[in-house]
Amino acid sequence: MPESDHVVPRLRGLAYGGDYNPEQWPREVQEEDAALMREAGVNLVSLGVFAWALLEPAPGRYEFGWLDEIIDRLHAHGVSVDLATPSAAPPPWFAKAYPHTLPVNRDGVRYGVGGRETACPSSPEYRQATAELARRLAERYRDHPAVVMWHVHNEYGAPLGECYCDTSLRAFRDWLRATYGDLDALNAAWGTNFWSQRYGDWDEIDLPRANHTVVNPAQRLDFARFSSAENLACFTLQRDILHEVAPGLPVTTNFMTTNCKSMDLWRWAPEVDVVANDHYLNAEQPDNHIDLALSADLSRSLGGGRPWLLMEHSTGAVSWQPRNIAKRPGEMRRNSLAHVARGSDAVLFFQWRASRSGAEKFHSAMVPHAGTDSQLWRDVVCLGAELQALAGVRGARVHAEVAVVWDWESYWALELEWRPSVDLRFRDRIDEYYQALWREHATVDFVHPAENLSAYRLVVVPSGYLLGETAAKNLRCYVESGGHLLVSYFSGIVDEHDTVHPGAYPGALREVLGLSVEEFHPLREHETVTLSDGATARIWSERVRPAGATVVAGFASGPDAGHPAITRHDLGRGTAWYVATSVDALRPVVARALDAAGVDRPRGLPDTVEAVRRGGYLFLLNHGDEPVTVPDVAGVDLLDGTRCAGEATVPGGGVRVIATGRP
Ligand code: GAL
Repeated sequence: MPESDHVVPRLRGLAYGGDYNPEQWPREVQEEDAALMREAGVNLVSLGVFAWALLEPAPGRYEFGWLDEIIDRLHAHGVSVDLATPSAAPPPWFAKAYPHTLPVNRDGVRYGVGGRETACPSSPEYRQATAELARRLAERYRDHPAVVMWHVHNEYGAPLGECYCDTSLRAFRDWLRATYGDLDALNAAWGTNFWSQRYGDWDEIDLPRANHTVVNPAQRLDFARFSSAENLACFTLQRDILHEVAPGLPVTTNFMTTNCKSMDLWRWAPEVDVVANDHYLNAEQPDNHIDLALSADLSRSLGGGRPWLLMEHSTGAVSWQPRNIAKRPGEMRRNSLAHVARGSDAVLFFQWRASRSGAEKFHSAMVPHAGTDSQLWRDVVCLGAELQALAGVRGARVHAEVAVVWDWESYWALELEWRPSVDLRFRDRIDEYYQALWREHATVDFVHPAENLSAYRLVVVPSGYLLGETAAKNLRCYVESGGHLLVSYFSGIVDEHDTVHPGAYPGALREVLGLSVEEFHPLREHETVTLSDGATARIWSERVRPAGATVVAGFASGPDAGHPAITRHDLGRGTAWYVATSVDALRPVVARALDAAGVDRPRGLPDTVEAVRRGGYLFLLNHGDEPVTVPDVAGVDLLDGTRCAGEATVPGGGVRVIATGRP
């Protein structure tokens, strides 16, 4: 893969702008918008994301004149367009014409109109209407010089990931038939001898609807796979039309990498020309800049390390959290540059101008209700200028020596009902390990467990409950050929049908870890145990029986006192570490594995500082309030033009981007 590449070839520099909804405004405001965009250095807007009702006001009647005028105006002001297909917002006439396309939730409630995302993804009428609209948009705008890329739909699967209507039922049965071929295979995979669920006819199979008890977990997993695939089919249908009619323009859709559990983005990512991501901070979460970093790293990893586009974030408060906290001074800038540090070639916001009407009128924007005589607007203008100074960063790649395994299938399976503990949440484990790695200043890629891992010195599996045979073999080969693997508890337990691997836990990882687990001993809420090295731990304890592994630390209290808690197993040319509980101070555990694996990372920095290399640029972001001096930095700061020779001081809350000249 090239070390640098331009994911939106027709755009120069980094993209700056956001969702633009001019249909909410009169012409005078639209004219002012274009002038203000120029003032702020905006060079890209996403247009028409929710404009179906205006583009097709009645079935088969298309109106593009208003959009022509807007695109021409933007072009005249030097603003390029990421033109959207509006399939995320079917207009009311669509629901009236095809009421059966309104989605049904797991409880059997059919949603009504008045919101957005109001169509079943399996509906042929919906797919046909969206395909037709995509074709017409492509035919009309393919040669417009302002249009540089396509934005299909909006956040597939968030929040509507599944539909339980009759159309979905028929499509699910078809999907199962295509997947399993015959019913014996399905019965075996689903373990239907349990609770008398054996199917004798495809038509007996239902959707995993709400039930007074637990529905077959393998059925639920397949329904999750099916739902992700049905949404993906909606995307590829439109994408193929856009490619056919407007060849050469990249097509994307905005993912929510960390906030949308329902789409298996490892399957989606190869289908987009460039990965785009939306990220919103949880304003009340401490250290939420680490969640931002995680989301950015996952976005980059989905594209195989290529630059990606931050399609949406916010200038300030959002409007859908319990308390919508405004960003502190400097936070928007720091957030934006943190995404760029981790591979984004764009800083785009929802949205350009704050709406006066509708559900999102209290959401921040680039142009707030307060107008341009506001700190927020001045910050927006400054950020635009800074991004221009960073134009050279575009296309550069981030290098990571550590990978964290993230698998949506495992996420889905783990969080079904009746697990050994309700505290076994996927994101909790991922966050614990990611935060420890972040604080150790180790840059991280995310990987699917079956992909080639040879580029990494350390691979971490914080939550790999579901692990198929191919993935398990892959992890073992990785270790045997010299890799370091760090695995947390309740990993390698079931296969892709949620069937426990044969023999003692963790069936898929026993050999590589050199141990087995005789019994789980989940802890009570708030219960803690201590380890032989003095550490405290929560959530989980289990009876580990080494079979080749050596003990690094044992449980000193709790149900497994005197038995191993952390182990190490040298296998072939590599090493596999295992952690059988949730250690409160995870950082030293992670640091030990990083050191053993020889992972290169900055040492001695406070854990409020984020130091990320992107190509020949070193991004230093200070999330603390006090200035921090970072040693061993030489180069020119692209933001203020100063030269650093030997060290760089980053002001509290500040950012420096140093062109070091060495990748
Ligand atoms: C996103 C969505 C936008 C807007 C935004 C508000 O998830 O794509 O259309 O609703 O949230 O934060």
